[in-house]
Amino acid sequence: MPHKNIEEILIPGNRINKRVVAIARKISRDYRNKDLVFVGVLKGCALFLSDLIKEINMDCSVDFICLSSYSGAQSTGVVRTILDLRQNIENKDVLVVEDIVDSGLTMNYLLRNLKTRRPRSIRVCTLLDKPSCRKVSIPIAYAGFKIPNKFVVGYGLDHNELYRNLPYIGVLKNSAI
Ligand code: IMP
Repeated sequence: MPHKNIEEILIPGNRINKRVVAIARKISRDYRNKDLVFVGVLKGCALFLSDLIKEINMDCSVDFICLSSYSGAQSTGVVRTILDLRQNIENKDVLVVEDIVDSGLTMNYLLRNLKTRRPRSIRVCTLLDKPSCRKVSIPIAYAGFKIPNKFVVGYGLDHNELYRNLPYIGVLKNSAI
């Protein structure tokens, strides 16, 4: 039984798990002999990133960054860094791991910020992609699932800090928004 505030389960947990394993295998192949650093974007990346790296069969390091939009629920692209990386990423092969790319404004800001630190390469891995909402083009190297323009929660994604613990991606009922 889904949570009472969930309208519909969009992606069940077993589909997520299979897709995460497939993405991890591809990343392990693509980054063989590279100096891979995962940069997780908190907090939404938490479940995806931890499941993903368990399936990576090569040396890699993991770091986190936490960003906050300045205003409202709608992304404005005006972003503040709440927690910065601990590591120097110069000459590293950086893979940014996000829960969802929606307008793309947050990722656009983040990529521009990280590129100033001169990584050898930088690419994006997102669990969910809402392409119909894009305001700025983002090159996405690895995407779990393309989803329609609906507000979703679960598997790390929240609404007012709730529902991150749900083991599936679900559409939130309008009455709960
Ligand atoms: P963007 O800047 O519009 O691409 O928004 C990116 C951020 O907005 C994501 O990292 C999420 O934290 C949040 N977000 C966008 N869409 C959703 C959604 O459907 N559910 C939960 N959070 C979302």
